[in-house]
Amino acid sequence: MAASMVSLLVIVLLGTFALEPTFAQDFCVADLSSELTPSGYPCKPASSLNSDSFVFTGLETAGNVSNNIGAAVTPAFSAQFPAVNGLGVSIARLDIAPNGVIPLHIHPGGNEILLVVKGVINAGFISSSNVVYSKTLNVGDLMVFPQGLLHYQINAGESTAIAFASFSSPIPGLQIVALSLFASNLPSAVIEKTTFLADSEVKRLKAFLGGSG
Ligand SMILES: *[C@@H]1O[C@H](CO)[C@@H](O)[C@H](O)[C@H]1NC(C)=O
Repeated sequence: MAASMVSLLVIVLLGTFALEPTFAQDFCVADLSSELTPSGYPCKPASSLNSDSFVFTGLETAGNVSNNIGAAVTPAFSAQFPAVNGLGVSIARLDIAPNGVIPLHIHPGGNEILLVVKGVINAGFISSSNVVYSKTLNVGDLMVFPQGLLHYQINAGESTAIAFASFSSPIPGLQIVALSLFASNLPSAVIEKTTFLADSEVKRLKAFLGGSG
């Protein structure tokens, strides 16, 4: 009897650790007034929470695609939806106008799974062995983009496309290569040396995307 109780306890404990080794609470809604730490934001006191603390309505409306990429990413990461803090998940809405693009980018902190809900999207990623995996996705199709790999989404149809991207992190991060290079103050000479691009093309891209230097 005692032995079987111990076995049961061991199994329960192992199960708990396997599921979530660092998490000893039901939830940890982010206190955004505190500093972000490597393990996320500190928790708001449970007494300050209610049902609305676990609901986000910011993905109901389309993002504004009147910009130079013809697309908008509306995130529900910890900063916008504090309830995902500590839970290992988040989501974003993508709106892509005809001819629009979510330019080549990475999420340093999480894997992505994309669900197309309107229109047609050509999406792809490039592995660290430089193999390209790309596909034209229709409504209802899913595609995964492994953490840290370069990927893109292009509207491949005649109407605005909408997709939802879920992430395996509440703070997946978003780094768009063209903006990092051509909307920053990285000196043109350094860009040309490190990318092998011509000076005229670097200047054109900086003018288009707002970079300096
Ligand atoms: C969308 O963005 C453009 C460019 O910034 C702006 O002129 C326009 O007012 C915005 N539209 C809406 C509905 O916010």
